[in-house]
Amino acid sequence: MTTRQEREMEAALRFIRPEVRRERAYHVGSAPDVTVKLNQNECPYDLPEDLKRELLEAFMRAPFNRYPTEQPDRLREALAARLGHDPDGVLIGNGSNELAYTLGLAMVGPGARVVLPRPMFALYGTMARIFGGEVIGVPPRPDLRFDADALTDAVGRTQPALTVLASPNNPTGLAMTPDEIARVVAAAPGFVLIDEAYVEFNEEPSAIRLLARHPNVLVMRTFSKAFGLAGLRVGYLLGRPEVIAELLKARLPFMVDRFAETVAMTLLQRPELVRARIDALKASCRRLTADLQALDGVEVIPSQTNFVLFRTGLEPRLVMAGLAERGVLVRDMSGYPELPGYLRVNAGMSNENQVFVAALKETLRAQAGV
Ligand SMILES: Cc1ncc(COP(=O)(O)O)c(C=O)c1O
Repeated sequence: MTTRQEREMEAALRFIRPEVRRERAYHVGSAPDVTVKLNQNECPYDLPEDLKRELLEAFMRAPFNRYPTEQPDRLREALAARLGHDPDGVLIGNGSNELAYTLGLAMVGPGARVVLPRPMFALYGTMARIFGGEVIGVPPRPDLRFDADALTDAVGRTQPALTVLASPNNPTGLAMTPDEIARVVAAAPGFVLIDEAYVEFNEEPSAIRLLARHPNVLVMRTFSKAFGLAGLRVGYLLGRPEVIAELLKARLPFMVDRFAETVAMTLLQRPELVRARIDALKASCRRLTADLQALDGVEVIPSQTNFVLFRTGLEPRLVMAGLAERGVLVRDMSGYPELPGYLRVNAGMSNENQVFVAALKETLRAQAGV
């Protein structure tokens, strides 16, 4: 029996677009008493305290009552100089997720096709469906790598407005080779976005070099991972100036606040700090992988990022529960049909990794009844 209030609510909700109503809101999930948080591929290091203080003092002099510039031009210029790219070909966003939605606004209308390899960062599927696009999913190879042949075939056959390649990919941690990416780009009539959120950890070269030859290429990066600024929300997109000029028409102005811009600029001026952290995180991820590989019955996918995908013989929810009891939070990835039994853990500081590995061992032992 529905009450009058429920009927009235349903009558109102009918005016929300069906594409939106069908979706589920993004939800990371948490657990009480987490002391070791390894579930969002974050950088475990915050900025040094003296640097944070310096930034806060500088910010005392900034006017809170004034709008920032429509686009964060200082950061745009600084990134362009660093990457040898035209500043007009740089678009900065409130995190790279926000830029993905800007691409949806500009490129994905009702019925537009969007080719997405599987399994990939779920936000792209949501974005494409919300804008009314038709998602064409391309299954992976048996080793979970993106299938470059199948992708090349799919883009030729379906003529998508947009194809997205996360390389290295989340949640698998696997990267495409430059040749594989180039083949998909050459076959695609529409835009190809290469999401390089984890590029700093990858041994393969960046896809930026493709921008010179292909007007349909876009490369997206973030300050959330290697730069450790997930809480400030800064990402950027690189493309040809003509393409970025069109995207600027679709997006909201003032998406990046003064503080985020200033902190990102400061990190660009401290390459040695960022470099040291990347090196430490790569070493941490290698050790974490080796520690997991040393456990009986644990299968690990070696990664080109700051996280690893693994599975045990146990159901992921039991692993999650056992770890949570011991204060550790990782991410259950078994919702992806291609990833049954899999969990994802990001590299933390070495003591955090040790707590995680010990907690996993205890969980496996407890479940085996030993
Ligand atoms: C592949 C990929 N792209 C983008 C993002 C989001 O980055 P941002 O924090 O810049 O929105 C993530 C975050 O997990 C990611 O894994």
